[in-house]
Amino acid sequence: MKVIILGSGTGSNAEAILRAERDGELGQAAVRAVFSDNESAGILSHATNYGKPAHFLSAAPYRTKLDGEAENVWINEIQAMEVDLLVLAGFMRVIKPPFLQAFDKQIINLHPSLLPSFPGLNGIRQAFEYGVKITGCTVHWVNEVVDGGAVIDQALVRVEDDDDLQALASKMHHAEHLLLPSVIRRLSVGDIQFPQ
Ligand code: GAR
Repeated sequence: MKVIILGSGTGSNAEAILRAERDGELGQAAVRAVFSDNESAGILSHATNYGKPAHFLSAAPYRTKLDGEAENVWINEIQAMEVDLLVLAGFMRVIKPPFLQAFDKQIINLHPSLLPSFPGLNGIRQAFEYGVKITGCTVHWVNEVVDGGAVIDQALVRVEDDDDLQALASKMHHAEHLLLPSVIRRLSVGDIQFPQ
C-alpha cells in the first residue's frame, strides 16, 4: 500500500509513521513521500531524515484552503505518484471537492479530539477549556464536511485534575503517535476496509 503524508507543521505524527515503517510495524504500507504547504515545516526535515522525498508545494494565495491553480498542481503531483492512501497529519488546509474527487475514498485525517466533539482548529485547547474529563484523538475518512467524515478509530485520553494544557497536549500527542500508524498498518493488511 503506497502512502503519502501531507502536513503543515512539526511533523511529529509523520515521524511516528516513518519510525513505525523503519521498525517493521507498518504492515504492508510504504511511505513514498511527504508533502507540505509550508517550506520550513519540520515535517519535511523528518522525511529527509528517514530518506523519503520531501516536497514543498505552495498553496498561495490562499491561507487556509487548497484551491484554484495551486490545487491543480497538488492534484497533478500526487496523481503522478499513483499512491493508495493520503494521510493528513497536521495538514492545516481545507480540502475542496476537486481534490476529494481526485482521491476519492483514499484520504484519512488525524484530528485531536473525539469527533464529533470539538471539530476545527485547536481541538486540544477546545476540550481543555470546555473542561471535559475524557478526550482523545480520531482518525477519519475525509469528505466535504470539515472533520465530518466517517470515524475509523479513536483513542481515549483522560484529563486529570492537575493537567495543564501543555500536559494534556503531551498525552494527546502520545496517543496520536500510536493511533495513526496503527490505522495505517491495519488498512494495509485489510483489518480495516477502504470504503466501497
Ligand atoms: C496533531 O495534533 C493533529 O491532530 C492536529 O495537528 C497536530 C499536528 O502535529 N491536526 C489538526 O488539528 C487538524 N484539524 P504534528 O505536526 O506534530 O504531527
